[in-house]
Amino acid sequence: MMVTAEDMAKLQREISVSEFFEKNKHLLGFDNKTKALLMVVKEAVDNSLDACEESGILPDIKVSLSQIKENVYKVVVEDNGPGIPESHVGKVFGKLLYGSKFHRLKQSRGQQGIGISAAVLYAQLTTGEPAIVYTKTEKQKLTKKFKIYIDTTKNEPEILEVKDVEKIKEHGTRIELIVLGRYKKVKGVDDYLKQTSIANPYAKIHYKAPDGTTITFPRSIDYLPKPTKEMKPHPYGIEFGILLRMLKATKARTLQSFLSSDFSSVGQTSAKEICKVAKLDPSKKPSELDRREVEKLINAMQTVKLQRPPTDCLSPIGEKELEKSLKKEFPNAEFFVSVTRPPTVYRGNPFQIEVGIAYGGDLPKDKPIEIMRFANRVPLIYQQSAGAAFEAITKTSWKRYNVQQSGSSIPVGPMVLTIHMCSVWVPFISEGKEAIAPYPDIVKEMKLAIQDAARKLSRYIAGKRKIGEMKRKIQIFEKYAVASSEALSALTGIKESEIEKMFSNLINKKVKKGVDDEQKNN
Ligand SMILES: Nc1ncnc2c1ncn2[C@@H]1O[C@H](COP(=O)(O)OP(=O)(O)O)[C@@H](O)[C@H]1O
Ligand SMILES: [Mg+2]
Repeated sequence: MMVTAEDMAKLQREISVSEFFEKNKHLLGFDNKTKALLMVVKEAVDNSLDACEESGILPDIKVSLSQIKENVYKVVVEDNGPGIPESHVGKVFGKLLYGSKFHRLKQSRGQQGIGISAAVLYAQLTTGEPAIVYTKTEKQKLTKKFKIYIDTTKNEPEILEVKDVEKIKEHGTRIELIVLGRYKKVKGVDDYLKQTSIANPYAKIHYKAPDGTTITFPRSIDYLPKPTKEMKPHPYGIEFGILLRMLKATKARTLQSFLSSDFSSVGQTSAKEICKVAKLDPSKKPSELDRREVEKLINAMQTVKLQRPPTDCLSPIGEKELEKSLKKEFPNAEFFVSVTRPPTVYRGNPFQIEVGIAYGGDLPKDKPIEIMRFANRVPLIYQQSAGAAFEAITKTSWKRYNVQQSGSSIPVGPMVLTIHMCSVWVPFISEGKEAIAPYPDIVKEMKLAIQDAARKLSRYIAGKRKIGEMKRKIQIFEKYAVASSEALSALTGIKESEIEKMFSNLINKKVKKGVDDEQKNN
């Protein structure tokens, strides 16, 4: 019996995005219990930080994990952010691919609009429990409490309950989720929060672990980074489909004004130039371009020489701030250095790399260095060896900087190395947002930042080595001084103690002074 085309057609059905992720939760990073618990915390905390920063509030965030039964945890994250208006709450937590950050080019932690709703979906899928959300804006008198479910066949929120309660004092949002998870101290929530505190020195984070212990990560600075601006797309790196959509949607009446008003770094002159190179009429209506013309336009957009995109849309941690953070987290290390590179561009997107190093002291000596990776101030905990940072670190020849390394592996020594990329669009290698794609432009900048920091480190290590050698010399001199004094005294008749004193003066003058000088230099 053959199955006919008509039979087969009967099986065709639309798939909602929630249903898709319900079956493919690993694609969002929820692929094992340990990682899933981390993802839930991470999505909520990242949103809290984004919201606080955007509305100019110094973040004060409380995270609590408690075990309900084996492999089931209650996760609570509360912030002092602006809160969420009642009419938006359902969609924010109960609809995948809904958010305020996707349609704009601005540096933020979230971008896809899939974060917190994915966590809600994961909770509902693994324990059947709805999300509980408390939120209060400055305008509201009372806190609104919601119980939210996701109707996965429709990808729409289902609000089970809304009521007024007394909970949040001024403004903010609190989310409670009950999820299947496993708690691990290493490479889990603890590490994530510690690293979050390093990359966000203006945030105060209070954490209660499942065993009841509490940690407060204090602020090391008390001012927010300067607010970032949104940017328009830059012509370099624009893709066909996006250009097509922009041509259809634009308010501009002519091709020339479309180019100069809807893109960054394109003025009237460059707009005319692009039209000329593309052999297109600058006064043509944008929506009337056919596919062949769009192709010509896109090619011309890549060839005409344009200014770089603006860089006031970026917010790096900052050299001084990163160093303060490292000193706060690793108070017993000996040496700190940080480097913020000037902004540059990949595929039309501005980005900036910074590297920080804490070295020596009580950091473990004979192990591979500890690497902390960040993208838009968010720690990347998993898939270390998949991304751009790993490539840049292992392809640097560390021996040149007095750091041990065998072949192209992770260097060995008492070092924590942080590497941060900020951009209006971070190219993650997957939806789980765990590693940055190793585009050559990005890897190159990372290597330059590492080399800059490593040069300074190497000067410190070389100085330390010199001091060590000098100290060893002193010990040898002092040992021989005693034996030589005896012999010289017998030969010359001068008192042994006198000769010893002379030797000691000589050593002090020549060698110990050198050590002092070296120490001063460091
Ligand atoms: N704690 C919060 N405070 C204020 N707004 C929030 C908070 N959490 C989420 N939001 C809003 O909900 C939207 C959706 O969040 P999310 O699903 O994590 O997607 P994304 O962060 O990628 O935009 C955000 O864009 C933001 O506008
Ligand atoms: Mg988010």
